[in-house]
Amino acid sequence: MSKNQPLVIGHRGAASIAPENTWASFRTAIEQGADGIELDIHLSADGKLIVIHDDTVDRTTDGSGEVWKMTAEELRKLDAGAWFDERFRGERLPLLEEVFALVPPGLLINIEIKGSYGGKLEEELSRMLDAEGRSHRVVVSSFDHKILQRLKRLRPATAIGLLYSANPVTHLGLTTGMQGEVTSFHPHHRLIGESDITELRRAGYAVYPYTPNREEDWRRLVRAGASGIITDRPGELRELLRREAG
Ligand code: G3P
Ligand code: MG
Repeated sequence: MSKNQPLVIGHRGAASIAPENTWASFRTAIEQGADGIELDIHLSADGKLIVIHDDTVDRTTDGSGEVWKMTAEELRKLDAGAWFDERFRGERLPLLEEVFALVPPGLLINIEIKGSYGGKLEEELSRMLDAEGRSHRVVVSSFDHKILQRLKRLRPATAIGLLYSANPVTHLGLTTGMQGEVTSFHPHHRLIGESDITELRRAGYAVYPYTPNREEDWRRLVRAGASGIITDRPGELRELLRREAG
């Protein structure tokens, strides 16, 4: 089936079987053999990087309200597990720095920025990544490419990934205005084909499509030569790749 085997990247951890963007979810992905995790970040009222997908806490905790209006201490009192399953009661919204402390060195951490907060998020993230050193492989992605450009200028060592949900005539063209600043492409998995993946990889970029969860979609992307696959089911993808490697 394969050219080179892609990296297995757990979407929000292992979001199909654990509450997304919690340590339980990240730990599960890692235990199931993921090469890395994807997570989403926002900024709290007191300027801390908090791991959560939505801009409100309503869907994934027992609280309600906007993330940016709450301090990290307030956010950390919320239960982020029981909404998914009673077994996960007690899970908390992680701070980004805690995830870095817990994920084994060498694994990939794909940080997706969900908002800029007037540039404050890029500044805080830049500081945090400097403090973390080079313990993990880090790629920072966003649908907002202007945020990525600002971060790159603030911290040139950052690996930048373009997230997008479109099938542009030329995927490479998305780097217009950011040549030399992009490391990877993160397309919607249904909106990229083999020829585009081949072209991007020949040009030296990594390609990490999101978020296929079915075997037929994984197989197609492996055949097409994706560098990594961001999935809610990292354990099952790992099993498939093991079987194929024989
Ligand atoms: O980073 C890939 C994927 O997470 C983008 O969409 O909404 O799941 O954050 P979303
Ligand atoms: Mg995401």
